Amino acid sequence: MKRLQAIRKAVFPVAGLGTRFLPATKSIPKEMLPIVDKPLIQYAVDEAVEAGIDTLIFVTNRKKRAILDYFAADGDLQTHLQAQGQHALFTRIADIIPADIKVEYVIQEQALGLGHAVWCARELVGDEPFAVLLADDLIRSPAEGCLQQMVEAWHATGAGSIGVEEIPPAMTGRYGIVSLRSDSDGRDYIRGIVEKPAPADAPSNLGVVGRYILPAEIFSLLASVQAGVGGEIQLTDAIAALLGNQPLLAHAFAGVRYDCGSRQGFIQATVDYALEHEELRDGLLQHFAKLTHNHDRAPGD
Ligand code: G1P
Repeated sequence: MKRLQAIRKAVFPVAGLGTRFLPATKSIPKEMLPIVDKPLIQYAVDEAVEAGIDTLIFVTNRKKRAILDYFAADGDLQTHLQAQGQHALFTRIADIIPADIKVEYVIQEQALGLGHAVWCARELVGDEPFAVLLADDLIRSPAEGCLQQMVEAWHATGAGSIGVEEIPPAMTGRYGIVSLRSDSDGRDYIRGIVEKPAPADAPSNLGVVGRYILPAEIFSLLASVQAGVGGEIQLTDAIAALLGNQPLLAHAFAGVRYDCGSRQGFIQATVDYALEHEELRDGLLQHFAKLTHNHDRAPGD
Protein backbone atom coordinates (compact mmCIF):
# COMPACT_ATOMS: atom_id res chain seq x y z
CA MET A 1 0.00 0.00 0.00
CA LYS A 2 1.23 3.50 -0.84
CA ARG A 3 2.43 5.25 2.31
CA LEU A 4 0.42 8.38 2.95
CA GLN A 5 2.19 11.69 3.16
CA ALA A 6 1.85 13.49 6.47
CA ILE A 7 -0.16 16.71 6.51
CA ARG A 8 2.64 19.15 7.33
CA LYS A 9 1.56 22.47 5.92
CA ALA A 10 -1.37 24.72 6.75
CA VAL A 11 -2.55 27.74 4.81
CA PHE A 12 -4.22 30.61 6.68
CA PRO A 13 -5.95 33.06 4.35
CA VAL A 14 -5.86 36.32 6.33
CA ALA A 15 -6.14 38.90 3.57
CA GLY A 16 -9.91 39.48 3.84
CA LEU A 17 -11.26 42.96 4.45
CA GLY A 18 -13.31 42.12 7.56
CA THR A 19 -16.05 44.57 6.63
CA ARG A 20 -18.47 43.20 9.21
CA PHE A 21 -16.18 44.53 11.96
CA LEU A 22 -15.59 47.99 10.58
CA PRO A 23 -14.51 50.42 11.92
CA ALA A 24 -12.35 48.18 14.19
CA THR A 25 -10.93 46.36 11.17
CA LYS A 26 -9.96 49.58 9.43
CA SER A 27 -6.53 49.22 11.01
CA ILE A 28 -6.62 45.77 12.66
CA PRO A 29 -7.06 42.57 10.63
CA LYS A 30 -10.15 40.71 11.87
CA GLU A 31 -7.93 37.71 12.66
CA MET A 32 -6.15 39.86 15.26
CA LEU A 33 -9.34 40.59 17.22
CA PRO A 34 -9.00 38.85 20.60
CA ILE A 35 -11.27 36.30 22.23
CA VAL A 36 -10.48 37.06 25.89
CA ASP A 37 -6.73 37.74 25.49
CA LYS A 38 -5.67 35.73 22.44
CA PRO A 39 -6.15 36.82 18.83
CA LEU A 40 -8.35 34.62 16.67
CA ILE A 41 -5.41 33.69 14.46
CA GLN A 42 -3.55 32.27 17.48
CA TYR A 43 -6.42 29.86 18.21
CA ALA A 44 -6.22 28.57 14.63
CA VAL A 45 -2.42 28.30 14.76
CA ASP A 46 -2.60 26.37 18.05
CA GLU A 47 -5.15 23.98 16.51
CA ALA A 48 -2.86 23.43 13.52
CA VAL A 49 0.27 22.86 15.61
CA GLU A 50 -1.65 20.42 17.82
CA ALA A 51 -2.57 18.51 14.65
CA GLY A 52 1.10 18.06 13.71
CA ILE A 53 1.46 20.94 11.24
CA ASP A 54 5.07 22.17 11.06
CA THR A 55 4.77 24.91 8.41
CA LEU A 56 2.35 27.80 8.70
CA ILE A 57 1.66 29.75 5.52
CA PHE A 58 -0.11 33.09 5.92
CA VAL A 59 -1.73 34.59 2.85
CA THR A 60 -1.89 38.23 3.68
CA ASN A 61 -2.21 41.60 2.00
CA ARG A 62 0.14 44.55 2.03
CA LYS A 63 -1.90 46.38 4.67
CA LYS A 64 -1.84 43.57 7.22
CA ARG A 65 1.47 44.26 8.95
CA ALA A 66 -0.11 43.47 12.32
CA ILE A 67 -0.14 39.74 11.58
CA LEU A 68 3.52 39.70 10.53
CA ASP A 69 4.43 41.71 13.63
CA TYR A 70 2.43 39.42 15.89
CA PHE A 71 4.29 36.30 14.76
CA ALA A 72 7.73 37.95 14.77
CA ALA A 73 9.94 37.55 17.85
CA ASP A 74 9.97 40.61 20.10
CA GLY A 75 13.22 40.55 22.06
CA ASP A 76 12.55 43.87 23.82
CA LEU A 77 9.19 42.70 25.16
CA GLN A 78 10.64 39.39 26.30
CA THR A 79 13.58 41.08 28.05
CA HIS A 80 11.16 43.45 29.75
CA LEU A 81 8.86 40.64 30.96
CA GLN A 82 11.83 38.67 32.23
CA ALA A 83 13.22 41.68 34.10
CA GLN A 84 9.78 42.22 35.70
CA GLY A 85 9.62 38.59 36.80
CA GLN A 86 6.52 38.02 34.63
CA HIS A 87 7.46 34.42 33.89
CA ALA A 88 4.02 33.13 32.87
CA LEU A 89 3.56 35.94 30.37
CA PHE A 90 7.13 35.54 29.13
CA THR A 91 6.40 31.89 28.31
CA ARG A 92 3.13 32.75 26.59
CA ILE A 93 4.87 35.28 24.37
CA ALA A 94 7.78 32.95 23.65
CA ASP A 95 5.32 30.14 22.77
CA ILE A 96 3.30 32.12 20.22
CA ILE A 97 5.11 30.02 17.64
CA PRO A 98 7.03 27.00 18.96
CA ALA A 99 10.70 27.03 17.89
CA ASP A 100 10.39 24.04 15.55
CA ILE A 101 7.55 25.56 13.50
CA LYS A 102 8.30 27.34 10.24
CA VAL A 103 6.37 30.48 9.31
CA GLU A 104 6.03 31.70 5.73
CA TYR A 105 4.14 34.55 4.11
CA VAL A 106 2.76 35.23 0.69
CA ILE A 107 1.04 38.40 -0.41
CA GLN A 108 -2.34 38.28 -2.15
CA GLU A 109 -2.09 41.39 -4.28
CA GLN A 110 -5.81 41.72 -4.96
CA ALA A 111 -8.85 40.62 -2.94
CA LEU A 112 -10.13 38.15 -5.55
CA GLY A 113 -11.69 35.65 -3.15
CA LEU A 114 -10.88 32.71 -0.89
CA GLY A 115 -10.01 30.41 -3.81
CA HIS A 116 -7.54 32.95 -5.13
CA ALA A 117 -6.01 33.37 -1.66
CA VAL A 118 -5.40 29.62 -1.38
CA TRP A 119 -4.00 29.55 -4.92
CA CYS A 120 -1.47 32.23 -3.90
CA ALA A 121 0.09 29.65 -1.54
CA ARG A 122 0.71 27.09 -4.32
CA GLU A 123 4.50 27.48 -4.51
CA LEU A 124 4.95 27.34 -0.76
CA VAL A 125 2.76 24.24 -0.48
CA GLY A 126 4.25 22.41 -3.48
CA ASP A 127 3.11 18.93 -4.38
CA GLU A 128 1.66 17.65 -1.12
CA PRO A 129 -1.70 17.50 0.64
CA PHE A 130 -2.24 20.45 2.97
CA ALA A 131 -4.67 22.02 5.40
CA VAL A 132 -6.58 25.30 5.14
CA LEU A 133 -7.89 27.00 8.27
CA LEU A 134 -10.18 30.03 8.31
CA ALA A 135 -9.43 31.70 11.62
CA ASP A 136 -12.80 33.38 11.93
CA ASP A 137 -14.37 29.96 12.38
CA LEU A 138 -13.28 29.31 15.95
CA ILE A 139 -13.83 25.71 17.03
CA ARG A 140 -13.80 24.70 20.67
CA SER A 141 -13.39 20.95 20.90
CA PRO A 142 -13.86 18.73 23.93
CA ALA A 143 -10.63 16.81 23.37
CA GLU A 144 -8.79 16.74 20.05
CA GLY A 145 -9.04 19.82 17.89
CA CYS A 146 -11.04 19.75 14.66
CA LEU A 147 -7.97 19.66 12.41
CA GLN A 148 -6.45 16.81 14.36
CA GLN A 149 -9.68 14.84 13.92
CA MET A 150 -9.41 15.48 10.17
CA VAL A 151 -5.74 14.47 10.05
CA GLU A 152 -6.69 11.20 11.73
CA ALA A 153 -9.42 10.64 9.13
CA TRP A 154 -6.77 11.27 6.45
CA HIS A 155 -4.52 8.59 7.93
CA ALA A 156 -7.45 6.19 8.18
CA THR A 157 -8.75 6.68 4.62
CA GLY A 158 -6.22 8.59 2.51
CA ALA A 159 -8.99 11.06 1.69
CA GLY A 160 -8.97 14.79 2.29
CA SER A 161 -11.90 16.31 4.11
CA ILE A 162 -13.95 19.39 4.79
CA GLY A 163 -15.41 20.38 8.14
CA VAL A 164 -19.22 20.51 8.05
CA GLU A 165 -22.05 21.16 10.45
CA GLU A 166 -25.79 21.56 10.29
CA ILE A 167 -26.84 25.14 9.90
CA PRO A 168 -30.31 26.73 10.03
CA PRO A 169 -31.92 26.14 6.59
CA ALA A 170 -32.58 29.87 6.19
CA MET A 171 -28.83 30.57 6.37
CA THR A 172 -27.59 28.51 3.42
CA GLY A 173 -26.74 31.75 1.61
CA ARG A 174 -23.84 32.31 4.01
CA TYR A 175 -22.04 29.00 3.53
CA GLY A 176 -20.72 26.42 1.15
CA ILE A 177 -23.37 23.67 1.26
CA VAL A 178 -22.63 19.99 0.67
CA SER A 179 -24.62 16.92 -0.23
CA LEU A 180 -23.40 13.53 0.94
CA ARG A 181 -22.98 9.95 -0.10
CA SER A 182 -22.07 7.13 2.29
CA ASP A 183 -19.32 4.79 1.24
CA SER A 184 -18.89 1.11 2.04
CA ASP A 185 -16.54 2.12 4.88
CA GLY A 186 -19.54 3.76 6.59
CA ARG A 187 -18.09 7.24 6.31
CA ASP A 188 -19.77 10.27 4.77
CA TYR A 189 -18.20 11.56 1.57
CA ILE A 190 -19.09 14.72 -0.29
CA ARG A 191 -21.24 14.14 -3.36
CA GLY A 192 -21.62 17.78 -4.34
CA ILE A 193 -20.80 21.23 -3.03
CA VAL A 194 -22.20 24.64 -3.90
CA GLU A 195 -21.26 28.08 -2.64
CA LYS A 196 -23.89 30.16 -0.84
CA PRO A 197 -27.08 28.83 -2.48
CA ALA A 198 -30.47 30.35 -1.70
CA PRO A 199 -32.41 28.09 0.71
CA ALA A 200 -34.65 26.88 -2.12
CA ASP A 201 -31.63 25.73 -4.16
CA ALA A 202 -29.59 24.25 -1.32
CA PRO A 203 -28.91 20.49 -1.56
CA SER A 204 -29.01 20.15 2.25
CA ASN A 205 -28.49 22.20 5.41
CA LEU A 206 -24.94 20.95 5.93
CA GLY A 207 -22.69 23.97 5.86
CA VAL A 208 -18.94 24.08 5.27
CA VAL A 209 -16.90 25.43 8.17
CA GLY A 210 -13.41 26.77 7.65
CA ARG A 211 -11.36 23.58 7.92
CA TYR A 212 -10.10 21.71 4.87
CA ILE A 213 -7.54 19.01 4.05
CA LEU A 214 -6.97 19.16 0.31
CA PRO A 215 -4.73 17.45 -2.22
CA ALA A 216 -2.28 19.60 -4.22
CA GLU A 217 -4.39 18.96 -7.36
CA ILE A 218 -6.67 21.73 -6.10
CA PHE A 219 -4.16 24.34 -7.32
CA SER A 220 -4.52 23.56 -11.03
CA LEU A 221 -8.31 23.60 -10.61
CA LEU A 222 -8.14 26.95 -8.83
CA ALA A 223 -6.11 28.29 -11.73
CA SER A 224 -8.91 27.50 -14.14
CA VAL A 225 -12.17 28.17 -12.24
CA GLN A 226 -14.08 31.26 -13.28
CA ALA A 227 -15.19 33.90 -10.81
CA GLY A 228 -18.30 32.61 -9.03
CA VAL A 229 -20.58 33.91 -6.27
CA GLY A 230 -19.87 37.57 -5.47
CA GLY A 231 -17.57 37.83 -8.49
CA GLU A 232 -14.87 35.99 -6.50
CA ILE A 233 -12.69 32.97 -7.23
CA GLN A 234 -14.35 30.45 -4.92
CA LEU A 235 -12.53 27.57 -3.23
CA THR A 236 -15.87 25.76 -3.27
CA ASP A 237 -15.99 25.78 -7.09
CA ALA A 238 -12.54 24.20 -7.37
CA ILE A 239 -13.54 21.59 -4.78
CA ALA A 240 -16.65 20.81 -6.84
CA ALA A 241 -14.39 20.16 -9.84
CA LEU A 242 -12.03 18.04 -7.72
CA LEU A 243 -14.84 15.71 -6.62
CA GLY A 244 -14.93 14.17 -10.09
CA ASN A 245 -11.62 12.39 -9.49
CA GLN A 246 -10.86 12.56 -5.76
CA PRO A 247 -13.07 11.54 -2.84
CA LEU A 248 -13.39 14.04 -0.01
CA LEU A 249 -14.85 13.28 3.40
CA ALA A 250 -17.46 15.45 5.06
CA HIS A 251 -16.11 15.77 8.58
CA ALA A 252 -18.86 16.47 11.13
CA PHE A 253 -16.41 17.49 13.83
CA ALA A 254 -16.79 17.05 17.56
CA GLY A 255 -16.88 20.54 19.04
CA VAL A 256 -18.63 23.89 18.96
CA ARG A 257 -18.01 26.37 16.16
CA TYR A 258 -18.31 30.10 16.65
CA ASP A 259 -18.73 32.26 13.58
CA CYS A 260 -16.35 34.97 14.73
CA GLY A 261 -16.73 36.70 11.39
CA SER A 262 -20.09 37.88 12.75
CA ARG A 263 -20.49 40.13 15.79
CA GLN A 264 -23.02 37.76 17.37
CA GLY A 265 -20.72 34.73 17.08
CA PHE A 266 -17.73 36.74 18.23
CA ILE A 267 -19.51 37.90 21.38
CA GLN A 268 -20.83 34.41 22.15
CA ALA A 269 -17.29 33.04 21.83
CA THR A 270 -16.00 35.77 24.11
CA VAL A 271 -18.59 34.92 26.77
CA ASP A 272 -18.02 31.15 26.57
CA TYR A 273 -14.23 31.38 26.64
CA ALA A 274 -14.34 33.93 29.46
CA LEU A 275 -16.60 31.63 31.51
CA GLU A 276 -13.94 28.94 31.21
CA HIS A 277 -11.25 31.29 32.45
CA GLU A 278 -10.69 30.84 36.15
CA GLU A 279 -9.80 34.51 36.77
CA LEU A 280 -12.88 35.79 34.95
CA ARG A 281 -15.60 33.25 35.63
CA ASP A 282 -16.87 34.29 39.07
CA GLY A 283 -16.94 38.00 38.30
CA LEU A 284 -18.79 37.35 35.07
CA LEU A 285 -21.37 35.08 36.70
CA GLN A 286 -22.03 37.75 39.31
CA HIS A 287 -22.46 40.29 36.54
CA PHE A 288 -24.90 38.03 34.64
CA ALA A 289 -26.89 37.42 37.83
CA LYS A 290 -27.21 41.18 38.28
CA LEU A 291 -28.26 41.63 34.66
CA THR A 292 -30.89 38.89 34.93
CA HIS A 293 -32.19 40.39 38.14
CA ASN A 294 -32.52 43.82 36.50
CA HIS A 295 -34.28 42.34 33.46
CA ASP A 296 -36.70 40.37 35.62
CA ARG A 297 -37.80 43.45 37.54
CA ALA A 298 -40.93 45.04 36.18
CA PRO A 299 -40.49 48.67 35.15
CA GLY A 300 -41.08 50.94 38.13
CA ASP A 301 -40.31 48.21 40.73
C1 G1P B 1 -16.07 30.80 3.21
C2 G1P B 1 -16.36 29.69 2.21
C3 G1P B 1 -17.67 29.01 2.54
C4 G1P B 1 -17.64 28.49 3.97
C5 G1P B 1 -17.29 29.63 4.94
C6 G1P B 1 -17.08 29.08 6.33
O1 G1P B 1 -17.04 31.80 3.04
O2 G1P B 1 -16.39 30.25 0.91
O3 G1P B 1 -17.88 27.94 1.65
O4 G1P B 1 -18.89 27.94 4.31
O5 G1P B 1 -16.08 30.29 4.54
O6 G1P B 1 -16.81 30.10 7.23
P1 G1P B 1 -16.88 33.27 3.68
O7 G1P B 1 -17.30 33.16 5.12
O8 G1P B 1 -15.43 33.64 3.54
O9 G1P B 1 -17.79 34.15 2.89
